[in-house]
Amino acid sequence: ADTLGAAAAEKGRYFGAAVAANHLGDSQYVQTLNREFNSVTAENEMKWDALEPSQNNFNFGNADRIFNHARQQGMAVRGHTLVWHSQLPGWVNNLGSADQVRSAMRNHINQVMGHYKGQIHSWDVVNEAFEDGNSGARRNSVFQQRLGNGYIEEAFRMAREADPNAKLCYNDYNTDNWSHAKTQAVYNMVKDFKSRGVPIDCVGFQAHFNSGNPVPNNYHTTLQNFADLGVDVQLTELDIAGSGSSQAEQFGGVTQACLAVSRCTGITVWGIPDHYSWRSNDTPLLFDRNYNKKQAYTAVLNALNAG
Ligand code: G3I
Repeated sequence: ADTLGAAAAEKGRYFGAAVAANHLGDSQYVQTLNREFNSVTAENEMKWDALEPSQNNFNFGNADRIFNHARQQGMAVRGHTLVWHSQLPGWVNNLGSADQVRSAMRNHINQVMGHYKGQIHSWDVVNEAFEDGNSGARRNSVFQQRLGNGYIEEAFRMAREADPNAKLCYNDYNTDNWSHAKTQAVYNMVKDFKSRGVPIDCVGFQAHFNSGNPVPNNYHTTLQNFADLGVDVQLTELDIAGSGSSQAEQFGGVTQACLAVSRCTGITVWGIPDHYSWRSNDTPLLFDRNYNKKQAYTAVLNALNAG
């Protein structure tokens, strides 16, 4: 196949991109999006601060613009993200009691998942709940403080009730290397959830790579070990700093690692052209600022078409 989406579809996978509502007026952007991708994630527009800036006041304007564009094009939509310490409006951080945080979380999950019920293939229910470094500890947040370790499990149970058809994912970064403490901490949580019947269907690997956090040699092992727990795995925010053949090789390798795991159901890149990336100086995407296909693009397409 000659596009990313079509090539991935031939392998039973999706190939998606993060999309920002304010770029939907850029015709080259939209042309590239429509041609190449068959899944979409809102880069910021489905986060708590965007959707519920004040308590129980929901604003779906920009999220719906992305959602409607995707659905009109026949693309799938990934939901990102319901419960996260960042891009969280101040009013949530100011809730003083466990009951207040719990009911705000339940209402947010119900309203947001309810709005798109049955139409979002996977939701990042909880995002980035673990610390970096060697502790394997939970990250501090208003959810962790008020509800304790059980908040993640509570969020997943609420999410299953709100939209029983969505795949429920835990999503994080720096969980690619099997030997890292953070990877092990997330693995142990998923293992525990599966053993106790807590509803979890997938684990998202953000896959933001650079020289300090390179694609690990054991990436396939990591993805396979998670899949063996009985969850799907997805690469949810892929970008790799660099250029030329070195960047291309790494993109190709990551794509192969996903294809080698039958439960790796799809890949999303975190943007379309380099200059719209959250770290544009790293030129970490598949298209240059003129929407030319980079070597990295060809490496991904070839990897998808191989075999
Ligand atoms: O919307 C305001 C705009 O009104 C204001 O004029 C402008 C001035 O700075 O800021 C705009 O908000 C920015 C927002 O992106 C929308 O462009 C924020 O400052 C900026 O911090 C925010 O960055 C986003 C970042 O998440 C915030 O955490 C990036 O676009 C987005 O790519 C990034 O995505 C995260 C994933 O959600 C989770 N994993 C890591 C990934 C990369 O950081």
